[in-house]
Amino acid sequence: MASAGLSGVFGPATFCAVTGGSRGLGRSIAVQLAGRLGEGSRLVLTGRSLQGLQETKRQVEEKSRNQLEVKLVTGDMEDTTAYPALFFDILADVQPGAFKNALIIHNAGTLGDLRKKAAEHSDAEILNKYYATNLTSVIALTAKFMQVFSGSAVRRTVVNISSAAAIEPLVHNSLYCSGKAARNMFFKVLAEEEPDVRVLSYSPGPLDTEMLRTVRSCGDKQVEDRFNAMESKGMILSPDDSAKHLLTLLEQDKFKSGAFLDVFDRFSL
Ligand SMILES: NC(=O)c1ccc[n+]([C@@H]2O[C@H](COP(=O)([O-])OP(=O)(O)OC[C@H]3O[C@@H](n4cnc5c(N)ncnc54)[C@H](OP(=O)(O)O)[C@@H]3O)[C@@H](O)[C@H]2O)c1
Repeated sequence: MASAGLSGVFGPATFCAVTGGSRGLGRSIAVQLAGRLGEGSRLVLTGRSLQGLQETKRQVEEKSRNQLEVKLVTGDMEDTTAYPALFFDILADVQPGAFKNALIIHNAGTLGDLRKKAAEHSDAEILNKYYATNLTSVIALTAKFMQVFSGSAVRRTVVNISSAAAIEPLVHNSLYCSGKAARNMFFKVLAEEEPDVRVLSYSPGPLDTEMLRTVRSCGDKQVEDRFNAMESKGMILSPDDSAKHLLTLLEQDKFKSGAFLDVFDRFSL
């Protein structure tokens, strides 16, 4: 593993935005980044809960070895009308030449209504809101990121927090599975089109977070059995451990751009 703070991707003057930084995996990624980002770096954390973001900021500042600027941006990814202002805030005040590295980690995510089976999702408004949060926001924010960090002077990295659900169907999770699958392919195309950009889809494994607790209590036996079996094999990870694994992958920088990598190497895609 490259030594902390010295590797290309997290060197001095890194801009890094992490969506969904108010809890769970996003908080763990932010805190792990704190010890790695070099002088002159900026960490932007997004989410709806200001309280959650402030707690993450407190933990980041406790861990940070350098003067790190931590910026909090609150906003709801469900609301597409708010995107221009929200994305402007996330990427505001980037002076030309101020950053050598630019990284965005699309981590925010939701499950949708787990009571419904695939054949029961009839409300287009609800569907639009789901895909706005989990797909449209990711695509549109990536475009803004590419626009702000254009040209070859900045090393750009885009991370899609994906899931095994992108390729393995899970009952009652048709929105979640289809959103993650679409994201994987979107980022594969981005990687093809933008050879100068490092693109990674990362499946963090089942994590002990609010999201997994919600999935496990959805009331479907098949779903419960699947995660109980994983738990008995020690496959439920702490978000800190999975975040560490992701940052190691980024530091080692050996992945093929556009690849989908799983924390347990379960898939070869
Ligand atoms: N947990 C798992 O087992 C697991 C497995 C595979 C993949 N993943 C993926 O890992 C990522 C993080 O999951 P997690 O387990 O940490 O989930 P989590 O604990 O539920 O956290 C989700 C994050 O997304 C943000 N978010 C949710 N809805 C939002 C909205 N409408 N607008 C803006 N931000 C929103 C939340 O912030 P606010 O509530 O403050 O808005 C929160 O910071 C997700 O992409 C998930 O799909 C998780």
